[in-house]
Amino acid sequence: RLLAELVSPVTTQQPTTAPVDVRTLGQDLLLPWRHNRSASRHLMDEINNCTNTQADAILTRTNTRVGQKIRYYIQHEKTFQASRGFYNTLPRDSPLPATPYRRCSVVGNGAVLLGSGCGQEIDRADFVFRSNLPPLTGNFTRDTGQKANWTTVNPISQLNWRFNLLSNKPANKDKFARHVRQYSGLLWVSAFGVKAATTVSVRAQRVLREKNVKSLGVVYGNPRHFAAVRDYWAYNGLSMRLSTGIYLTTIALSTCDEVHLFGFWPFDVSHSGEKLLYHYYDKPDTKKKPISASPHNMPKEFLKLVNLHRSGILKIHLET
Ligand code: CTP
Repeated sequence: RLLAELVSPVTTQQPTTAPVDVRTLGQDLLLPWRHNRSASRHLMDEINNCTNTQADAILTRTNTRVGQKIRYYIQHEKTFQASRGFYNTLPRDSPLPATPYRRCSVVGNGAVLLGSGCGQEIDRADFVFRSNLPPLTGNFTRDTGQKANWTTVNPISQLNWRFNLLSNKPANKDKFARHVRQYSGLLWVSAFGVKAATTVSVRAQRVLREKNVKSLGVVYGNPRHFAAVRDYWAYNGLSMRLSTGIYLTTIALSTCDEVHLFGFWPFDVSHSGEKLLYHYYDKPDTKKKPISASPHNMPKEFLKLVNLHRSGILKIHLET
């Protein structure tokens, strides 16, 4: 059940959130915005007082010991014992710098990105976060940009089901290596949510080494960091399972001076009243996944982010 929850929609009704007037919300987000540096710095300190993102977001040889039992954050009754071999695959220290990035973009996969023309604005950042191996090539580039410094991967739905990496077939490994060459920097895998995620995550790292993909390194998310961020948001009124988007935004808020969000719009109508698909890369004939079927409460998360936008702590971009 937990495995299914990690990758597929929960079909029960979500806790109710008051209906959102998307047009008014859109108009509000399009008003001129000014960065409030002291409020940003305050929030950065607040998050880092709960968990040190720079040191602990990623498993490293500094925050992990040989023999340590790493606790899964969804199947928390289960642990994984770090062998010497596993330990040796971790980066020595955190790949995140001790001084914050000046400007970061966090790119969600909402269909609002399509036609936004935000590509150049996204790539203007010093560091770009993206989710779930999204397409950045061809006609998408104008809206998505191409820079990708930290890209997340869901081990079950992407590595296992989409690329079938567990099968060890050369064609699958080639397809995976070809696809991920469009990103650089870190390929962040949530390897310690559920037990079934770990083997395929380790396999992904091996495949990239085997295929000599040098521009990209597989790193494992630290379940203790994820749990601390989850607790932080639970304390601040978000008790549903956190989406990748809000988790990445929290990492950005705790490691970047200025945070800009793109592709965040968890509604099926745009700010100008047009019908929207779920992802920017969905085709009109793909099986439609309604936002209400997500295991997260993205509208509620989004309204939290809107509050941060209004306070000048981050900027939500809908168009250029
Ligand atoms: N997102 C959004 N509006 C949408 C679709 C996505 O705001 N219409 C944001 C969410 O924060 C989401 C992130 O973009 O987490 C990445 O999108 P996606 O890859 O679609 O995430 P999901 O697979 O839906 O969810 P998960 O968070 O479990 O990865």
